[in-house]
Amino acid sequence: MIILGIESSCDETAASVVKDGREMLSSVVATQVATHALYGGVVPEIASRAHTEAISGVVTGSLAKAGVSLSDIDAVAVTYAPGLIGALLTGLSFAKGLAYAANKPLVPVHHIRGHVAANYLVHPRLEPPFYALVVSGGHTSLMKVGSYTGYELIGRARDDAAGEAFDKAARMLGLPYPGGAAMDKLASEGDPTSIKFTSATVHGSEYDFSFSGLKTAVINYVHTAEQRGETLDAREKADIAASFTGALIYTIVTRLEKLLTEKEKLPVVLAGGVAANSHLRRAVCDLCAGFGVECFIPPLSLCGDNAAMIASQGYYEFLAGVRAPLDQNAYATLGV
Ligand code: KG4
Ligand code: ZN
Repeated sequence: MIILGIESSCDETAASVVKDGREMLSSVVATQVATHALYGGVVPEIASRAHTEAISGVVTGSLAKAGVSLSDIDAVAVTYAPGLIGALLTGLSFAKGLAYAANKPLVPVHHIRGHVAANYLVHPRLEPPFYALVVSGGHTSLMKVGSYTGYELIGRARDDAAGEAFDKAARMLGLPYPGGAAMDKLASEGDPTSIKFTSATVHGSEYDFSFSGLKTAVINYVHTAEQRGETLDAREKADIAASFTGALIYTIVTRLEKLLTEKEKLPVVLAGGVAANSHLRRAVCDLCAGFGVECFIPPLSLCGDNAAMIASQGYYEFLAGVRAPLDQNAYATLGV
């Protein structure tokens, strides 16, 4: 079965053709990062317009690269939630038009489930049940994936997502947007024990995450230095990056450790843009090794937003009978 996937929930316009949920025939991603970098973050209205301009070429390109035509496609899968509403509506409306015109079924896909499915494309052995940790610019979610379409939320970010905290901390250190990858490199040069940035817990919800306090601690640290008339040198910036990263990873890993200690031992899947972080990848794999459970992480190319992950999850949603009506709406927030 051949699925065309379409993704436009944030600042990447993407389309991909995937066979039987596991084999990527093409994956085209048009990123708007350079445009939004001018403003230090994603500007929703600019994102919607950029999706509108790019989507036709991106979809045509993905079909051409896969060597298939629209008539070869069995279904169109599209991200319908969560994300920026205007951005989501661009992809969803395009997908509706395409599915209607070509008389193909339309399958709605939840973006977070898509991130998890990125792993199916590169790990043939991976099958539910497993735990999934999606860490991205918009989400930090810990879930149990009981079946391909059976998700149970265990913990989530109560305020800022991990990627948001990374981007803000990076900005405070003078790194260009989005700063996650640059923070990763800088943290490798610093000492993670040099500054005590504490990790917050959410009272009564031991599996939830809170990163806004950590983000504010970095902002305060940098402002205090500025108010004293001090200029942070390269060494101090690296120490801040390393200490911030250490505290953030501690927050994530302790939730996972608690889960593997108290609940059934299952393989762990890491996904989302922040899953590209080398320190996080190592920490999660080390933890899994200690518990004797398998750890699955996608390659860097499939951590960030793409449409292959949407087509992959779309395949399993299709098999489960999930279809979008032509009046399908998009949702900025929606449970997984
Ligand atoms: O999954 P994604 O592409 O978009 C959302 O669905 O949100 O994630 C983007 C986020 C950004 O915040 C970016 O800074 C972060 O992923 N990121 C990283 C790294 N590479 C990307 N964060 C930490 N370390 C990295 N190496
Ligand atoms: Zn994403």
